[in-house]
Amino acid sequence: MTKILFVCLGNICRSPAAHGVFQKLINEAGLQDKFQVDSCGTGSWHIGHQPDERMQKAALKKGYDLSRLTARKLALKDFKQFDYILAMDTRNLADIIKLAPDHYQGRIQLFLDYADDKNLLEVPDPYYGGEQGFERVINLIESGCEGLFEKVVNVAHA
Ligand code: 4NP
Repeated sequence: MTKILFVCLGNICRSPAAHGVFQKLINEAGLQDKFQVDSCGTGSWHIGHQPDERMQKAALKKGYDLSRLTARKLALKDFKQFDYILAMDTRNLADIIKLAPDHYQGRIQLFLDYADDKNLLEVPDPYYGGEQGFERVINLIESGCEGLFEKVVNVAHA
């Protein structure tokens, strides 16, 4: 079983979107038994909340239902449990690295390292912006998830 954790700040916009998009790729490939997908935030403001309405709307437009996800905070036990710990932006990355025991540092990466377009670095925080920001988030997340999917499926089958 390969375990993948998407991490952002609030766990109500970017990482739940990545969770929903990647889970759908896994489901459509019939690989639910081989992969566990989850998401969380480095902050605690939104623990227990559903994804932001604006994120849910932008995701649903592209066929992803995020309504059953609830926010939680990154915990120490996540480092042991997850094989891939993927940060949405460089601030998230720095916060995760700070919290992680040395032994698990190698599991932590920027999510968009998996996107085909190597100019993409971060999924920008859309929280204080307009609707367009959420659409851009979904598009960026789809490209990262496609690249990630190819990588992890190949590794799992190797
Ligand atoms: P996320 O977006 O990290 O993509 O979930 C945010 C959500 C909430 C806040 C910041 C970013 N906030 O400051 O409450």
